[in-house]
Amino acid sequence: MKKDIRYLHTKKQRHEPITVLTCYDYPTACLQEKAGIDIIFVGDSVGTNILGYQSETEVTMADMLHHLKAVRRGVTDAYLLVDLPFAADRKPAQAVTNANLFVSHGADGVKLEGGIEKVPIIAALTEAGIETCAHIGHNPQIHGTKAATHGKTVAKAKQLIKAAGALTEAGAKLIVLEKITEEVSQLITESVSIPTIGIGAGRFCDGQVLVINDILGIGPAFKHAKRYQEYGSLTFEAICRYKEEVEGGDFPIDANVAHIAPDKLARVRKWLQLPESSVSNQRHPARQ
Ligand code: KIV
Repeated sequence: MKKDIRYLHTKKQRHEPITVLTCYDYPTACLQEKAGIDIIFVGDSVGTNILGYQSETEVTMADMLHHLKAVRRGVTDAYLLVDLPFAADRKPAQAVTNANLFVSHGADGVKLEGGIEKVPIIAALTEAGIETCAHIGHNPQIHGTKAATHGKTVAKAKQLIKAAGALTEAGAKLIVLEKITEEVSQLITESVSIPTIGIGAGRFCDGQVLVINDILGIGPAFKHAKRYQEYGSLTFEAICRYKEEVEGGDFPIDANVAHIAPDKLARVRKWLQLPESSVSNQRHPARQ
């Protein structure tokens, strides 16, 4: 069953947690789909997590489209969300053009960062029939990669609650709350009709999102995330073992190779005017 926006809103009403993970490639999309993740999200965190960029501000529309196309091929039922990258949503018309490009390549909705100043953009996208996810609190495209917690003062708490209300009013269908105090995230969750998806925003959001690299144990550990696997060290170990085995002549072995029938080999050797003999394995005596 396709998980559309109505399905996600019903989950909020029923207090059923919504699961979201970032995803940047086809095989991971297939695994997330198989696991039943609700929202598979092509985040602009692809820049720092996959492409080796220093910041989200380096990510382009072309980068996002490339990864969206790969992830799309692995998604069947999940809601496919994609980030509008830095500077792709400055003007309403520009945001609509860019969002439409993603929708034409299979996105179900687009996410954009920013507070109350993004109301006209969300309104224009909604008017154009595009489903949007707002994103308040820490905004890497605006605040950089160093994330401070938002919503610690009365003024900031009020500002966040007002922004969430205005973005919802403008037509946002989902909202990400990033690095916001748990209490303020809970107040926002209770005050808006749309699902809140938290990252570093505590236990009371309607859903949770994490960066796939962070749950797999690739790269540094973060307080807001949990490492469910040590993929980084497991991968490094596999690479080292492969290198050692190739250098030591232990890979490939006979089980990994294919052969030509001896009579055919003899005919090829004859054609090459080589003497009759078996294939030499002198360079790699360990192979058999
Ligand atoms: O791009 C991303 O990974 C995000 C999440 C942090 C929500 O925007």
